Amino acid sequence: MNILVTGGAGFIGSNFIRWMKQHAPEHRIINVDALTYAGNLESLRDIPQDASYVFIRADIRDRAKLDEVFSQHDITHVVNFAAESHVDRSIVDPELFLTTNVLGTQALLDTAKLHWKSNPEDKYSREYRAGVKFLQVSTDEVYGALGREGLFSETSPLMPNSPYSAAKASADLVCRSYFETFGLPLNITRCSNNYGPYQFPEKLIPLMIHNCMEEKPLPVYGDGMQIRDWLHVFDHCSAIFAVLIRGEMGEVYNIGGNNERTNLEIIRQIIHSLGASEELIHFVKDRPGHDRRYAIDNSKITTRLGWTPSYTFEQGISETIRWYQDNEEWMEHVLSGAYTEYYARMYAPSFRE
Ligand code: NAD
Ligand code: DAU
Repeated sequence: MNILVTGGAGFIGSNFIRWMKQHAPEHRIINVDALTYAGNLESLRDIPQDASYVFIRADIRDRAKLDEVFSQHDITHVVNFAAESHVDRSIVDPELFLTTNVLGTQALLDTAKLHWKSNPEDKYSREYRAGVKFLQVSTDEVYGALGREGLFSETSPLMPNSPYSAAKASADLVCRSYFETFGLPLNITRCSNNYGPYQFPEKLIPLMIHNCMEEKPLPVYGDGMQIRDWLHVFDHCSAIFAVLIRGEMGEVYNIGGNNERTNLEIIRQIIHSLGASEELIHFVKDRPGHDRRYAIDNSKITTRLGWTPSYTFEQGISETIRWYQDNEEWMEHVLSGAYTEYYARMYAPSFRE
């Protein structure tokens, strides 16, 4: 496979590339990333540029560039991670989320259709080159919020509550329409909250680890009793690969590890692991439109594709805390902004823009 990974310099994308190198190195990866504030090539330092891995700086909304990438690299698969991903930022700048997450996805779908369809001029044809697939990486947030009971299944209604989740839900619907109308071979995955190495410290777990290490206040939104279903990022990566290889065309797969925790439980676990004080906890004004609870019914992917998570939360969180302790330089560069100079220093002389 020649896999176009978009957003491969972000948290999950960079871990997916690392996971692929370890578990399926026979496939070629073409990483396209615009390097927004969230894209960090230092997260890929251990991945050498060679015949099986290339990085190209490009925006998924740039159709001419996408066309060039598909032609030059004979793309057979797309895994679309590229997105604006932070809920709090979407409350400040919704438009950016709509253009990147919706129109960017549509530009990718159009390019894939053009390159993969046997006769792109024939609007009635549903024939595609053999073995191609588009995988849209979506989120459980498209289903909105749960009360105390129940789980999100693939047939739960889409009820997004933030501009971020509305943009992701819109992209899912555009993907669905490209399967129904054009027959484009695709899958959608909807995963719960990920944690692990290389996550941007605007997200709950790395933010709390960093602030504990620096003995800074820990900002808890509202009462801290919101519930998320946490999955180690490598388990998300293995699930994506299972769907890429074995997913039935047109199907949606929820991904989750049955690890529901309140935010306060997570924060206290981090405090105790790092020997910090609970006095660092500071309750702050709640996030507008804050979803109370997410929880995933993962029975479709476990029974039909045979995927199971391999990390327990206890193992995953202690490895993750240790990773941030051992990689203070990575964190310092992110916080100081020094990581944005890495591209200019390491890539500009030898690689294409
Ligand atoms: P992230 O913010 O860490 O990374 C996003 C990456 O996309 C960055 O490298 C950024 O530079 C790139 N990007 C942004 N706009 C782009 C554009 N216009 N063109 C090209 N590249 C662009 O996000 P993440 O946490 O790694 O999430 C990746 C995907 O997984 C997203 O689609 C997100 O919705 C989804 N997801 C995330 C989680 C989670 O817990 N983090 C859970 C489920 C689904
Ligand atoms: O569920 C999947 C989603 O998980 C992904 O689609 C998103 O891209 C990803 O960002 C994540 O969204 P959340 O909003 O759940 O993650 P975040 O880390 O921003 O917040 C987790 C919980 O912690 C949420 O209830 C808000 C709370 N929180 C967060 C921050 C950053 C705090 O209480 N204080 C904070 O400072």
